[in-house]
Amino acid sequence: MTLLEQVRKGRLPQHVAIIMDGNGRWAEARGLPRTAGHRAGAAAAERLIRFVGPRLELPYLTLFAFSSENWARPRGEVEFLMDLLSDFLRSRLAEFAEAGIQLRVIGDLSRVPDRLRREVCEAVAATRDNRGLRLTIALSYGGRQEIAAAARRIAEEAVAGRLRPDAVDADVFAGFLETAGAPDPDLVIRTSGEERVSNFLLWQSAYAELHFAQTLWPDFTPAEFVRALAEYQTRTRRFGAVEEATA
Ligand code: FPP
Repeated sequence: MTLLEQVRKGRLPQHVAIIMDGNGRWAEARGLPRTAGHRAGAAAAERLIRFVGPRLELPYLTLFAFSSENWARPRGEVEFLMDLLSDFLRSRLAEFAEAGIQLRVIGDLSRVPDRLRREVCEAVAATRDNRGLRLTIALSYGGRQEIAAAARRIAEEAVAGRLRPDAVDADVFAGFLETAGAPDPDLVIRTSGEERVSNFLLWQSAYAELHFAQTLWPDFTPAEFVRALAEYQTRTRRFGAVEEATA
């Protein structure tokens, strides 16, 4: 039995979220500009999306494409990444729609170039009714910013008399996040050997299993993704509770 078959028989996560790190180092190691690393990184993301949809019953996949903090990178690199995402949406939309993928985007889109914002809205609208893989791209996204925005909206609702402050619990709060309605990630993967969460899905990954891969993102293959799932299946998840047998 192949590892993929074995993984498919086991307990699959509902939601995997990935911090795609190491594009710059991949390029530097080859004497190439950082932008070449991002291009190779986009190709790795495409490879994985094409693999996951048909091969695994994984309902939710979230990819961290650009963080709130990435705006501080050199202007040329930021522009390149925005263009790359634009190209990605334009050139892959038909294929995704055909494959039943539902595209979602989380993050502060008010900061992205008008053209990309339009393309994002079109792609989200065009795939809204699809029922295959829910692919979320985190773009201009920061977990703290998302939580602060939710708190702001909750305060506005309370001031307007539509929400009682004592009714605000964790479930109500989660309903004000951009990810409302989606399950929390069961597994967060970060590539490139860095072991940080870097402001990614801070609220949502409260009980996520973390998997740190040494591979630089452009080299991350579907086979390695399957190995990460196999490793995830060996973990015992207790969500803060204690198993009866060991109590
Ligand atoms: C981190 O590597 C990666 C990013 C900031 C950008 C991620 C973007 C992509 C993988 C391409 C576009 C994505 C899609 C979904 C098409 P880094 O530049 O921080 O690498 P380094 O830590 O080695 O410098």
